Parts: sequence; C-alpha cells; structure tokens
Amino acid sequence: MLEVEGLEAAYGRARVLFGIDFAVDAGQLMCVMGRNGVGKTTLLNAVMGVLPPTAGKVVFDGRDVTRMKTHERVRLGMGYVPQGHETFPQLTVQENLQVTLEATRHGDRKAVDEALEAFPRLVPLLKRKAGFLSGGQQQQLAIARALVTRPRMLILDEPTEGIQPNIVLEIEDAIERLHASGLAILLVEQYLELALRLADRFVILEGGLVVHAGAKDDLRDEGVGRMLAV
Ligand SMILES: Nc1ncnc2c1ncn2[C@@H]1O[C@H](COP(=O)(O)OP(=O)(O)O)[C@@H](O)[C@H]1O
Ligand SMILES: [Mg+2]
Repeated sequence: MLEVEGLEAAYGRARVLFGIDFAVDAGQLMCVMGRNGVGKTTLLNAVMGVLPPTAGKVVFDGRDVTRMKTHERVRLGMGYVPQGHETFPQLTVQENLQVTLEATRHGDRKAVDEALEAFPRLVPLLKRKAGFLSGGQQQQLAIARALVTRPRMLILDEPTEGIQPNIVLEIEDAIERLHASGLAILLVEQYLELALRLADRFVILEGGLVVHAGAKDDLRDEGVGRMLAV
C-alpha cells in the first residue's frame, strides 16, 4: 500500500535521510523506531511531502506521489497526525472537526460521528475550545481530525509523547481498534513496549538509515534495546 524507496531528505545542506526503504501492506501496522534526532519526523514529513525529498520515491496505492502536494496525498487517503498534536486552539472541538470535514472531498457528515466513536472522551467536550483541552485530549482531537478525512492509511508521529498515562492507554486502545478494523497505520514510536503491543512490523532508524527491520517478534532480539535506548 505504501512503498518508500531510496528516500533522501535534507534541511538546506544538512542531509538527514540517506536512502530509506520500507513498505507497508494494506491493513498492516508498521512502527518506525529509533532514538531522538535519528530522522523519524523528517521521514514522515518526506513521505507526506511536507519536506520535499531530495531523492527517492514514495508510492501510495500504486501511484507515485513523490512530487504531489501534501493536501493531494491527504485526498488520496494518507491521514497525517504530525508530532505535537496540532489543532486549531481558538476553535471548539466541534469546529475543529467541522473545518476538517469541509476540506474533505467526501463531505459526509457521518465521518465526524465515526471519528468521535474512536474517541468518545471528546463527545462531552465538543463545545470547548481546543486550546483549553489537556495535551492528551488534544492528541485525541488531532487523530480524530485525521479520521474525518476517512484515510486509507493513518500516519502518526509519537502520539503518546508527553501525555498523561491514563490517556496514553486510551490512545493505544484506539490505535489498536483502528488497526483491528483494517486500517493501515504508520506509527512513529520510541517505546519498545508499545511497539511490541501494536506493531506487525518495524524499522529502526539510526543516522538517517534503516539499521534494523523485521516482524514484531524480531523486536525481542538482543541489540534492539541498544538501538532504542535514549
Ligand atoms: N527544521 C529543521 N531544520 C534543520 N534541521 C532539522 C530540522 N528538523 C530537524 N532537524 C534535524 O534533523 C535531524 C532529525 O530530526 P527529526 O527528524 O526531528 O528526528 P526524530 O523525529 O527522530 O527525533 C536532527 O538532527 C534534527 O536536529
Ligand atoms: Mg520526531
């Protein structure tokens, strides 16, 4: 469903990704792991066209999207939740979901209810401004907004980073349910326990390269911990 081939990216002259290859099949949950600063966010930004790659290819559903604009990729079904749970702080939860709906091609109002089913905690907060939500609630809203676009693949960058533990569990449960419902997911996650719980496959980045890749059970290999320890 998603193929990333020889992907390279740079900030000005500073190269960050040196040829990344991996693929995510339909319905699969792929976990991208690695320490701080190894290039995980840069990889997702390159996959989404937020940072145009300097070399390589991104293929989604058989279409080469490498040169497409980010919003075109979203329309094709790539739902992206960037690191740091971005929402519109001045708008209510309801309005945040509504403006996203209005930007979609399908325009089906039921998509808002479906997104709220994934995060029922947001229902009593619909009239509240997003800026007044807790970090965990904002993250739930950010994922709900991506769901309103009815993605075929959900792309999440450290969705549980810096979030209070009770909501971390809710977010993990929601990701697990979305995956169980057949949604393909590309998840950036630093923590081994979470990857062991959720992932089908994983890649570990180091210095802008994939240094290890495999199926979930390979995460128990000796040496994996060393590539992840902060
Ligand atoms: N906007 C930017 N401009 C310049 N360098 C950046 C920028 N964003 C990230 N970097 C650098 O790129 C490298 C990879 O960062 P990032 O992709 O954010 O890593 P990760 O998400 O794995 O923590 C780091 O060395 C970081 O300092
Ligand atoms: Mg990051």
